[in-house]
Amino acid sequence: MTSDRSGSEAAGADPGASRDAAQARREAEQAARSVPGAPVRRSRLGRRVSAAVRLVAALTIVGGLYTAFAPSSNAEETPKLSDRAAAGKRLFDQSCVSCHGDHAQGVTGRGPSLIGVGSAAVEFQVGTGRMPLARQEAQAERKPPMFNQAQAREIGQYIQELGGGPQLPGGDNFRDGGDPSRGGQLFRVNCASCHAFGAGGGALSSGKFAPSMKEATDRQIYAAMLTGPQNMPVFGDNQLTPEEKRDVIAYIQDLKEDRDPGGFGLGRYGPVPEALVIFLVGMVALIFAGVWIAGKS
Ligand code: HEC
Ligand code: HEC
Repeated sequence: MTSDRSGSEAAGADPGASRDAAQARREAEQAARSVPGAPVRRSRLGRRVSAAVRLVAALTIVGGLYTAFAPSSNAEETPKLSDRAAAGKRLFDQSCVSCHGDHAQGVTGRGPSLIGVGSAAVEFQVGTGRMPLARQEAQAERKPPMFNQAQAREIGQYIQELGGGPQLPGGDNFRDGGDPSRGGQLFRVNCASCHAFGAGGGALSSGKFAPSMKEATDRQIYAAMLTGPQNMPVFGDNQLTPEEKRDVIAYIQDLKEDRDPGGFGLGRYGPVPEALVIFLVGMVALIFAGVWIAGKS
């Protein structure tokens, strides 16, 4: 207890001592200030000037660093577009931003990002009228296109320059030089399961379907294989080489020109519906003939 009290007394004495010291310091300072000494003022001025010089130097360095690095960060935000891509961007900004976002990065709940889908996907979607999408449904369907082919390619160029991705080869005709019989084999193995043997299309699950290829152009068929729209698988160049793609296109386009020399094609479903029709029509004819003969006698 006693030691405690003496400790507190000592502690009480200490503040007094430090107060005296502070007082002494303040007096000394006042004395210095009360004597208007030129050296004191000069040294303060000098300190201010040197602080200002240091500030300016720091600002210059920071500014220099900024100007050195700023152009590259600008380039990331707005890449330098070619004229065609810039024209495409204008069309995109009118018709596609609402669902695909300012820089095609996508809008949740409205449309996916288009970074990396490539000009092939855009040309297919816009060229077949699927995009711009009118309303959300099970599947975006082919409809009269809103943009002509040149415009579709401009938008494609824009998306290509933004994020890369699959591109179509040049030209409009991919069927010449393709081998339709080899194409037929490839078609039956790779496509017929969904699109039916006659490329007339077929139903898939939950309201989706593989459409008919009646209206598809060479470029659109190529693009469909290369990009795999919606429920269609992608047939990259490893699955079907560019030559094989041309064979498939040659086959499909031949099939369309084929005018059913045997008469009514019955949807080209093959021998099963043909036999069914022969059976039904033949049975009915036989029954009528029997009834007619029985009525005569
Ligand atoms: C009303 C909303 C909407 C508008 C407008 C719209 N899109 Fe889309 N887009 C979608 C949706 C949803 C999908 C994904 C589902 C689908 O493919 O049907 C899609 C898919 C796509 C795809 C396929 C992406 C892929 O992964 O292969 C492309 C390419 C595309 N849109 C381009 C466009 C372009 C170009 C425009 C403007 C001309 C446009 N879209 C306008 C909603 C829209
Ligand atoms: C798993 C089923 C499936 C397979 C296999 C498939 N497709 Fe498709 N295909 C689809 C679906 C689904 C669509 C519709 C996509 C859409 O509307 O965006 C489609 C669309 C297409 C179209 C667009 C038709 C148009 O004009 O609107 C073409 C062309 C096409 N496919 C070609 C092919 C070819 C060629 C093959 C074989 C190499 C193939 N498909 C294999 C499901 C399939």
